Amino acid sequence: MTELFAALKPGSEEWLLATSLDPARLPRHIAVIMDGNGRWAKERRLPRIAGHKSGVDSVRNIVESAARLGIEALTLYAFSTENWKRPSLEVEALFRLLRLYLHSELATLMKNNVRLGAIGRISGLPSGVQKELQHVIDLTASNTGLRLNLALNYSGRTELVDAVKSIVASGIPPAQINEDTIERALYTSALPEPDLLIRTSGEMRISNFLLWQIAYTELVVSPTLWPDFRCRHLLEALLEFQRRERRFGGVEAAKEEAQVDLALR
Ligand code: FPP
Repeated sequence: MTELFAALKPGSEEWLLATSLDPARLPRHIAVIMDGNGRWAKERRLPRIAGHKSGVDSVRNIVESAARLGIEALTLYAFSTENWKRPSLEVEALFRLLRLYLHSELATLMKNNVRLGAIGRISGLPSGVQKELQHVIDLTASNTGLRLNLALNYSGRTELVDAVKSIVASGIPPAQINEDTIERALYTSALPEPDLLIRTSGEMRISNFLLWQIAYTELVVSPTLWPDFRCRHLLEALLEFQRRERRFGGVEAAKEEAQVDLALR
């Protein structure tokens, strides 16, 4: 977090929010459903693509903020398997923006010690996108800071289908299959499970994102449209996360004992 404080103006709104955070209870892995680009553009009577273009500015800001906060992993839902159903001009524009981002951000990713990764059916992406992606993945491979993970041509169900295929192909006997076997076969096997999932634009849906991994993830829905989402909104989501009591299906022992005591009196 020291890097974040160094970048913030003392007394600013972001600085005040950051001072309220407990640095010891930050999430290790944040996942984001970046939603609302189309509505942002519509509100301004602009084509949808203008919303995606402004959405890239939010990607830059949130990646840099997460890196400065010392977050271990950030997974961004950038293109779902369902997004192919959009008009071809919009799909092409999204890939063009992604390539531009990868090309223009390389120096900043290096400066911020960010390591790029990707999840999804990457071989189904246009070859130019695959090349640019692989190039940045290779060049950032030895960075040790934030792991930026782009979900591209991704859906939680296809991830599970791919995991089942690889488990069957490995020849493991069914009786030996357990949760660890499945976790190791997921695209995210090298990452901790997300502690926090943020969805922007007020929609309360999971949209086929990280279906296995979010079993115990805290969900924060921000009303802000993705192109307006900045460090301040991330800090607000983190404060909301820190107000939650995470029990992973259990109970907090001390509180429960006190309540049992009271009930038995
Ligand atoms: C959802 O908004 C957003 C997307 C489908 C694409 C997200 C892509 C970017 C932010 C740009 C490229 C990505 C990177 C990583 C550089 P929507 O179009 O569904 O919005 P709506 O629900 O308001 O129509």
